[in-house]
Amino acid sequence: MALNACVMAEKILIVDDLAVNIQIIISIFEMHELDYEFYQATNGVLAFEITKKVIPDLIISDWDMPVLSGIELIALLKKEESTKNIPIIICTGKMTSSDNLQIAFDTGAADFIRKPIDEVELISRVKNHLELKIQRTKIEDYSQKLESEISERKKIEAKFVKVNKELFELNTDLEMRVISEFRKIEKQQKLLIQKSKLESLGILAAGMAHEINQPLTSISMGLENILLKNSLDKLSSNYLVNKLKSLFEDIERIKRLIQHVRQFSRNQNIEMFDKVDIKQVISDALMLMKAQLHDLNIEIAVSESESEVKTLGNRNKLEQVIINMLSNSRDAIIKKEPLVSNLQFTKKINISLSVSETVARIEVTDNGVGIDAESSKKIFDPFYTSKSEKAGTGLGLSISYGIVKDMKGEIFVESEEMKYTKMIIELPKI
Ligand SMILES: Nc1ncnc2c1ncn2[C@@H]1O[C@H](COP(=O)(O)OP(=O)(O)OP(=O)(O)O)[C@@H](O)[C@H]1O
Ligand SMILES: [Mg+2]
Repeated sequence: MALNACVMAEKILIVDDLAVNIQIIISIFEMHELDYEFYQATNGVLAFEITKKVIPDLIISDWDMPVLSGIELIALLKKEESTKNIPIIICTGKMTSSDNLQIAFDTGAADFIRKPIDEVELISRVKNHLELKIQRTKIEDYSQKLESEISERKKIEAKFVKVNKELFELNTDLEMRVISEFRKIEKQQKLLIQKSKLESLGILAAGMAHEINQPLTSISMGLENILLKNSLDKLSSNYLVNKLKSLFEDIERIKRLIQHVRQFSRNQNIEMFDKVDIKQVISDALMLMKAQLHDLNIEIAVSESESEVKTLGNRNKLEQVIINMLSNSRDAIIKKEPLVSNLQFTKKINISLSVSETVARIEVTDNGVGIDAESSKKIFDPFYTSKSEKAGTGLGLSISYGIVKDMKGEIFVESEEMKYTKMIIELPKI
């Protein structure tokens, strides 16, 4: 049915029961070189059928027609989803009364043209409606695109909210797990540190037993001598005074030991910072370790500067550091013993205290098994140990490192396997 088919041409369906009227309209367009694609129908039913196959861009329809009038055709087309938006221009001589106009517009007509047709009016109205349709289609496309973008965005937003919620829950869960793991580790570490402290106290107790035993033996021997002299009637007042003096010295020594142990255990958890006499700390640590090392035939040599050397910190903690060093040296020497010939091996620990203008340097050197280069990088790590689970926690040096750092000092190691290990502690001198 197409009279003039061109690819992009708009499709116009012309409906009129008089074919001649259709031709008039077409010729007007052709005269104006308007290249539309025309479809024609002689009544409403035929027109409706055409719209089932082709959706025209515009319909020009006569009002009065047999079978189905123009108004009835509009009503039908408005009901269909595919055709409800086609602009329909009613073309009639009936449009004289405003009532008819009202009916046409109420039914859904887009416009009207009076008969007889005025060329200019027809062309300008058709052009207008086609342009309007193009604009409307563009707007519809645009709003459709917008709608789909909005719905896409909403979907993304919903996803984002969901993911965010999941992330938040995951995060909270993770945080809780980290906190609980952290608490567990903290608890374990506290237990281990406590164990390490207890070990220091254990060394202390062992040292105490040895150290107290000596003056006690001398006290009981002194008292026996006094009693013996008295029974033989040979107890001079001079002898008695001298003996009692030496007994009091022994008692004093025991008192000092007990006092030191009390102070050492009492102040373990107190963060005291004070002037610390390093020589005194070394001698206190030795007081506790001396007997034990002596029993193991380990020689101890101490070389110290003449003058008093002081630093700032916690004396008990520094003593704990020295005890840790001495215990490590003891273990290293014991470990070496079965590996070398007894004749060649004189077990030795050297403690030296030297000073420069600003630094006090403590060195604890032993001739034990030594440390290989790879291990010496790890010895200050918490829980690093080469000892059995019972023999070591691997905390001694890491705790010592913390203590020395708190005192603004440095701690490092020099060692040669099977030859020596030297632990060096440098503290700011005051
Ligand atoms: N003087 C030393 N000679 C040889 N090895 C040493 C010496 N001092 C430390 N080490 C090595 O460093 C490791 C870590 O020492 P650290 O004092 O931290 O722990 P530990 O002695 O194993 O156990 P803990 O002191 O907790 O009972 C030791 O297991 C040992 O291998
Ligand atoms: Mg240790």
